[in-house]
Amino acid sequence: MTKSENIVWHDSKVTQEHRMKLNGHKSAVLWFTGLSGAGKSTVSVEVEKELYNLGVHTYRLDGDNVRHGLNNNLGFSAEDRAENIRRVGEVAKLMSDAGLLTLTAFISPYREDRDKVREIMNEGEFIEVFVKCDLDVCESRDPKGLYKKARAGEIKGFTGIDDPYEEPNNPELVIETDKNSLEECVQQVVKHLKDKGYLE
Ligand code: PPS
Repeated sequence: MTKSENIVWHDSKVTQEHRMKLNGHKSAVLWFTGLSGAGKSTVSVEVEKELYNLGVHTYRLDGDNVRHGLNNNLGFSAEDRAENIRRVGEVAKLMSDAGLLTLTAFISPYREDRDKVREIMNEGEFIEVFVKCDLDVCESRDPKGLYKKARAGEIKGFTGIDDPYEEPNNPELVIETDKNSLEECVQQVVKHLKDKGYLE
């Protein structure tokens, strides 16, 4: 469904390139994906703090937060999750265009939805970070008590319990929060950004 007929793109004189030059670093989208309780929010919060300390301009979009505002009309059906990820992808693209190194923390369980976000980005702009963690470990962490509710049948369609999570096939980065410490995972992400030239 597209309603953008008779709409003409209007270019700015100041571009993403200009903003990146001014900022002294590239803009991009660090897309954290993984099960509830895998550590997407925790790791992305720490990565953002580290980047801020390095003088990087950042912004973080988090599932729980965005669902309070922009996406407060969406639930957890496959269709609503797809729309959630589509909107967040578009917002992240705008933020990246604005020169920010944007971090997103969404379960984003469907490969197709994540791939569609990748497709709207420029080359090298989308950095998929698979926050890998065994379901058992996520369930034992259960920081919000949601797995317990899902097991009791009080929440239907909970990711990992009675709803799918499709692991990325070719993520730029995999961090294993059930094997490595938070600090190690954070450093892995920062190292990736340095090694690939995002921070020069
Ligand atoms: S999605 O799948 O990407 O659209 O989900 P997201 O926007 O990241 O929101 C996930 C958070 O919503 C809570 N929650 C659920 N998660 C999964 N399945 C169901 N049915 C569900 N209902 C509520 C949960 O707190 C998720 O937060 P995280 O931080 O991932 O634990």
